Amino acid sequence: MKKIFVIGSINIDITVSGERLPEEGETVKADKFYIYPGGKGANQAISSGRLGAKTELIGKIGNDYFGDIINNYLKKENVDFSLKYGKQTGVAFINVDNHGKNMITVYPGSNNELNYSDFNYMKFENSIIMFQQEIPLKTIEDTIKNSFDNNIIITDPSPFIKDEFILKNSNFLTPNEKEAGLLSGIKINSIEDAEKASRTIHEKYGNNIIIKLGSKGSLINYNDEIRYYKPYKVNAVDTTGAGDCFNGAFASRFLETNDVNKSMEFANAAAAISTLSYGAFPSFPYINDVLNAIDKT
Ligand code: RIB
Repeated sequence: MKKIFVIGSINIDITVSGERLPEEGETVKADKFYIYPGGKGANQAISSGRLGAKTELIGKIGNDYFGDIINNYLKKENVDFSLKYGKQTGVAFINVDNHGKNMITVYPGSNNELNYSDFNYMKFENSIIMFQQEIPLKTIEDTIKNSFDNNIIITDPSPFIKDEFILKNSNFLTPNEKEAGLLSGIKINSIEDAEKASRTIHEKYGNNIIIKLGSKGSLINYNDEIRYYKPYKVNAVDTTGAGDCFNGAFASRFLETNDVNKSMEFANAAAAISTLSYGAFPSFPYINDVLNAIDKT
């Protein structure tokens, strides 16, 4: 395997963090406010780059103030980037509570304008290609149709939209428990439910399924063999981007080792570490942080 390509969203995350999340019609006070780049695509790419994998991010931002902030952050990272320019940079409005849980509303802006024709000069061969669903699904479909079969495609079906072509043509699907519930029709309240859901999804689409269970850990159904990974016990302050970090970490380790078990252990640790600090980008660990955490267990 040569390289990881992440084709996906890039946003500016505008976050307030407080005691609890507001309910409908309610105003609550926050005690922290911060602005950092995020977006599921950028988060996956930054994570895999920081964890040592040769990574390229393909996405679309606006030629605007937020776009400049993103460019300046990306230049400091271990990631090649092919950024295209559309009308307005995507923005995510995020509420975080004091257990690190969040609620997110995304305005996609230029992410919605990313088309396959923007990057059809690129050849994806013998690489890992990572998708999430904050860009047009047609762009993902067209990329898959025009890529060689020797790539490994990892799709995070988030935000959840059911696209049968993408689901069938991904080598790995990485839903969280809610998305796995929607894909399988099984409400997930336990590890056993998640195992059942992974079997149902595997039977339907024939691919490998990773279910991210947040504070309950994660599991993989790889070639119909299921393995569960216990969570790391951490005091999470902000879980924004933890699932994206998981994907970036899994891909970076898989690129290096081709070993699913090692990659899951690594991703589990990386995602847990990412919840220990505020924001998406600033919280993603470097390789030694993850290896040290694994050594201590
Ligand atoms: O998965 C977290 C990400 O979702 C945030 O960074 C935000 O930008 C939204 O895309």
